[in-house]
Amino acid sequence: MKKILLLLLAMFMMSGCGNSAQEKSPVETEKALAAPSTADKKILVVYFSRTGEEYGLGNITKGNTAIVADIIAQKVGADIFEIKAATPYPDNYDACLELAKKELESNARPAVVGNVDNFAQYDTIFIGYPIWYAALPRVILTFIESNDFNGKTIIPFCTHAGSGLTGTERELKEACPNSKVLNGLAIIGKTAQNDSAAVQKDVDAWLKTLGY
Ligand SMILES: Cc1cc2nc3c(=O)[nH]c(=O)nc-3n(C[C@H](O)[C@H](O)[C@H](O)COP(=O)(O)O)c2cc1C
Repeated sequence: MKKILLLLLAMFMMSGCGNSAQEKSPVETEKALAAPSTADKKILVVYFSRTGEEYGLGNITKGNTAIVADIIAQKVGADIFEIKAATPYPDNYDACLELAKKELESNARPAVVGNVDNFAQYDTIFIGYPIWYAALPRVILTFIESNDFNGKTIIPFCTHAGSGLTGTERELKEACPNSKVLNGLAIIGKTAQNDSAAVQKDVDAWLKTLGY
């Protein structure tokens, strides 16, 4: 009987029970369950981009922001979703300028088509857009207000003709007060269209600062 008890005690100690350093306290176990590893986190790249006549570029068939969005999604292994206006923006540059100005002045929310499948599954959302009048195109706000961004990490990127991100990071913070908005990336539209190597380099350097 004594031998059996000793054997059971030895097995108990070998199994790592008792005071093993590897054992997790209930609090640690709870924490581990609440905070999935980076590998479990799903990433989404959403973007809005326009084709047609573009300033200094002529007629483009793939938008500048779309090009950058593809590169980011491929590098971070994200799903990708294009925000499309229900009424597409004019191909004509001047007509687009006029419409976008009206939308900005009236703080419009132009309708968008389609929805992200199971938006809740994503922890991190890269949001890409062209700078329009030093601001976010209003369709970006339509998208944001149609989805629950609470608790998500937002990473902005834009293409532009010289103004950089301007106040768009702040606009995103205001639109998503319960999200964490990280430092964004700004790429000149012409570079996106004509110099893939330069974009790759900029994207790599930026992603590195974000811990990717
Ligand atoms: C309506 C409109 C407004 C724009 N306003 C600005 C601006 O304020 N600052 C800037 O640098 N570029 C501005 N641009 C240029 C675009 O931001 C730039 O060409 C961008 O790369 C276009 O991206 P996309 O091809 O993805 O639509 C504007 C373009 C349009 C059509």
